[in-house]
Amino acid sequence: MKAYEVKPGAASLDDLIAVERPEPKAGAGEVVIRVRAASLNARDQGIVAGRYRFGAATKPTVPLSDGAGEVIAIGAGVTRFKPGDRVMHTFRRGWIDGPYHPDHVGESMGLPLDGMLAEQVLANAQDCVRVPDHLSYEEASCLPCAGVTAWHALMEKKALLPGDTVLLIGTGGVAIFGLQFAKLTGAKAIVVSSSDAKLERAKTLGADDGVNYKTHPEWDKEVMRLTDGRGVDHVIEVGGATIPKSIGSLATGGYVHAIGFVAGPQPTFSASDFVRRDGHLDGIMVGSRVMFERMNAAIAVAKMKPVVDKVFTFAQARLAYEYQRSPDLFGKVVISI
Ligand SMILES: NC(=O)c1ccc[n+]([C@@H]2O[C@H](COP(=O)([O-])OP(=O)(O)OC[C@H]3O[C@@H](n4cnc5c(N)ncnc54)[C@H](OP(=O)(O)O)[C@@H]3O)[C@@H](O)[C@H]2O)c1
Repeated sequence: MKAYEVKPGAASLDDLIAVERPEPKAGAGEVVIRVRAASLNARDQGIVAGRYRFGAATKPTVPLSDGAGEVIAIGAGVTRFKPGDRVMHTFRRGWIDGPYHPDHVGESMGLPLDGMLAEQVLANAQDCVRVPDHLSYEEASCLPCAGVTAWHALMEKKALLPGDTVLLIGTGGVAIFGLQFAKLTGAKAIVVSSSDAKLERAKTLGADDGVNYKTHPEWDKEVMRLTDGRGVDHVIEVGGATIPKSIGSLATGGYVHAIGFVAGPQPTFSASDFVRRDGHLDGIMVGSRVMFERMNAAIAVAKMKPVVDKVFTFAQARLAYEYQRSPDLFGKVVISI
């Protein structure tokens, strides 16, 4: 079968190579997934460039944590699925329920485990979830990392309430899922982005307000103005270095969900500013299978569809990576397999 591998010691996209691998066979408790689509996350860029914060490829590794496909074989004892079922793999093998544990970090798809950019993938049946009926494989492939991360932050830590206000940093994968979950719940959503055109596009998805962080470097003040001085209840904080401004945007008792580092990893902020707001700062590590299933139930009822920006073919995998890092990105980049 065809697959892509990231070479050990990868430093650039030249280290993403097309390979042939043997077709997997399902052992006890396992399923073979015929992958139909896989999607990219910011993490995948770090892995192929050798600058991922949580490790590097030390053996040839199939990239991309996120994908969807159909079960084509099941091993002994598998009752969760049958051939023909449409499934997605969780971001982390073995994190079924309960809180995050450091042991889970070594079980991440796409590094160090082989990921989804392959025609076939071997998986434990316990680590797979069903695709909601209304979603295509391309749409479903967006859910395992970006979708579950936004869901975990907004719904599992302290559930979002109708009437709350959510702040989304940027218009990438996690942020756009955060926007969709905010609107699904009846919350107000404010997006900050580098682009007025993207802010307009976010408004077509329900964003109530937008702030351009290039033309308003002090965007926390704008957020305060837009909320009549109250601030926001939740921040999908994917910036890292933007944490001080996220805190500056916070309502009393609000939550800054620390998720990523697209603006850099080294924030400095005034502890007293944070304490004065009675704020909460929590780290998010994607989420468990049970969170994934709760999210899918909500998505199915609302008939919510992930925002797919562009779909590339399997042969165009490199182009997909290049597009995902371009300033044009809005939502998710998918590779059809
Ligand atoms: N902890 C977890 O469980 C977890 C899970 C998923 C992702 N992450 C992390 O979360 C981050 C986002 O991931 P993603 O896959 O959603 O990324 P993505 O799809 O690549 O989107 C990144 C977006 O960030 C915005 N951005 C870039 N620089 C910025 C800055 N200086 N200030 C504000 N916004 C900025 C841009 O939006 P505009 O173009 O609109 O400006 C860009 O589109 C990454 O660091 C990723 O590693 C963590």
